[in-house]
Amino acid sequence: MNDLAGKHIVLGLSGGIACYKSAELCRGLIRAGATVQVVMTEAACQFITPVTMQALSGRPVVVSQWDAREGNNMPHINFSREADAIVVAPASADFIAKLAQGRADELLSLMCLARPSGTVPLLLAPAMNREMWAHPATQRNLAQVQADGAQVLGVGVGDQACGETGDGRMLEPDELLDEIVARFQPKLLRGEHVLVTAGPTFEAIDPVRGLTNLSSGKMGFAIARAAREAGAQVTLVTGPVALPTPRGVQRVDVRSALQMQAAVQAAAPQASVFVAAAAVADWRPATSADQKIKKDGSGDVPALHFVENPDILAGVAASERARSGALYCVGFAAESHDLLAHAQAKRQRKGVPLLVGNIGPETFGRDDNTLLLVDERGSIELPRGPKLGLARQLVAEIARRLAR
Ligand code: CTP
Repeated sequence: MNDLAGKHIVLGLSGGIACYKSAELCRGLIRAGATVQVVMTEAACQFITPVTMQALSGRPVVVSQWDAREGNNMPHINFSREADAIVVAPASADFIAKLAQGRADELLSLMCLARPSGTVPLLLAPAMNREMWAHPATQRNLAQVQADGAQVLGVGVGDQACGETGDGRMLEPDELLDEIVARFQPKLLRGEHVLVTAGPTFEAIDPVRGLTNLSSGKMGFAIARAAREAGAQVTLVTGPVALPTPRGVQRVDVRSALQMQAAVQAAAPQASVFVAAAAVADWRPATSADQKIKKDGSGDVPALHFVENPDILAGVAASERARSGALYCVGFAAESHDLLAHAQAKRQRKGVPLLVGNIGPETFGRDDNTLLLVDERGSIELPRGPKLGLARQLVAEIARRLAR
């Protein structure tokens, strides 16, 4: 998606082995529609060449404040005023120390100091050895630069180039890209705690078999991501799906409807918005065998008996907090036909203020969808588009209704 269309990003590289990831980040930014001006420190040039970054960004890379190519010879002023954001990735321990002290002895730190701090966010992606990361001096400097207005994007955990394992790796390029995209989304749900269910549930017949459905979880995960981008705290309760957790989202993995209900009931008292996007199995086998059910050679098939699963959404919607308006509930309806009529009826039946209808076979497993929003005032359609785009529109619709 063209999430960064029209945005101009200054991508700063300070010295660290993670510079190799910055090449991929640069490509990602461009692919997302941004224009990118790369600024490198001398130390960064030891790890990756300006040639590589120029080729990827399509613009000459600037390393020195004495670079005379700028008409007024002031790249630190020009670049920091043209930018919608300055992203320093990697931000080395030394570079963060410089920022903390307000030093300006080379172009990148000079430009960060000269940036109009009220309008141009400064995002830092630290990268260093775990001991350097944990050192009190680094932690002190990180606290200082944040107090001074920089946003620290966090670090990854895992194997490091030095052979050690721990905190301090630079986030992966796609994680950084998601963080940068998130900064530009309006903070419509700041202060809210959004609870989302996603994916199918799996109802065991025996240890190797079960009953499930074709839900991929993509819509629920997109809603969790969009809510987090909008500034909410997000808890995502998901059935078995093969999707990465959106950044900054607290994920709770469950399998069956009963487990999903327990996880939702545990999280709902803290939530202010509940979006039930999961395709919960309506029935589960009355009993689940401890051992695999074997064919007995007779040709007879086992008789399966089902019981109905609890309605998780209806249960939450009937709670005191939901009825008093402290918890805003949004349901989904997966239908195969007569969407509007079924969605209206389901909204009443579930007792929710907003119900989102979609056609099951046209959404399950797909990256795009069409949504029909039904509330007490009527219905509106969000036309077919990528699920993340629809999720952002849905978040805006929810925010509008919370503000009423
Ligand atoms: N839902 C739920 N618990 C269930 C069944 C559904 O919380 N046991 C929620 C879904 O997450 C969705 C909404 O209820 O938000 C509607 O789900 P859907 O499967 O479309 O409707 P059902 O209530 O199962 O009705 P039917 O299958 O008869 O259409």
